[in-house]
Amino acid sequence: MPPEPPPGGDRRDFVKKSCAVCIGGALGAVPALAGVVVFLDPLRRNADAGLLAQITTLDSLPDDGTPVLFPVIATRTDAWNKAVAPIGAVYVRRVRPDQVQAFNITCPHAGCAVEFQAEKEGFICPCHNSLFSVSGKRSGDSPAARDLDELPAEIRNHGEVWVRFQNFKTGKAEKIAQS
Ligand code: FES
Repeated sequence: MPPEPPPGGDRRDFVKKSCAVCIGGALGAVPALAGVVVFLDPLRRNADAGLLAQITTLDSLPDDGTPVLFPVIATRTDAWNKAVAPIGAVYVRRVRPDQVQAFNITCPHAGCAVEFQAEKEGFICPCHNSLFSVSGKRSGDSPAARDLDELPAEIRNHGEVWVRFQNFKTGKAEKIAQS
């Protein structure tokens, strides 16, 4: 709490004490803020190969291979600002007890987000009805020109699931990374 102004007292002294309280409070807030950013941002930039992030742990993925949706959150920094914001999302599924598969949720047709539907045993895009199997393969009559964009995924440290996240251009048969 800032000090009360002394009734009729030295106003300059009051201002000095108030500033000391404000600066002390701001410095005290820095470690807490840094902790939040580090926690939310386990990403490590690799210029041409996307962003490597720990997305989840193996324990959180069902044994039966059902995909689970996870947001990907990153810090963006420019000359003046640092902001934490979602940059996309991934579906991750267990393929074997110690192997996972990850997909960017963006439909390669025109960029809508696909949804996993257990009753269809695959991913559906609500925009133009592209269909993909649970392993990301597109069905014959889907307007998407390629399969879902699979992302490199691996297990580290006995159960951490790491994914190299990247967005790709839509509307192309080839998988072309967005810069
Ligand atoms: S954007 Fe997915 S089918 Fe068109």
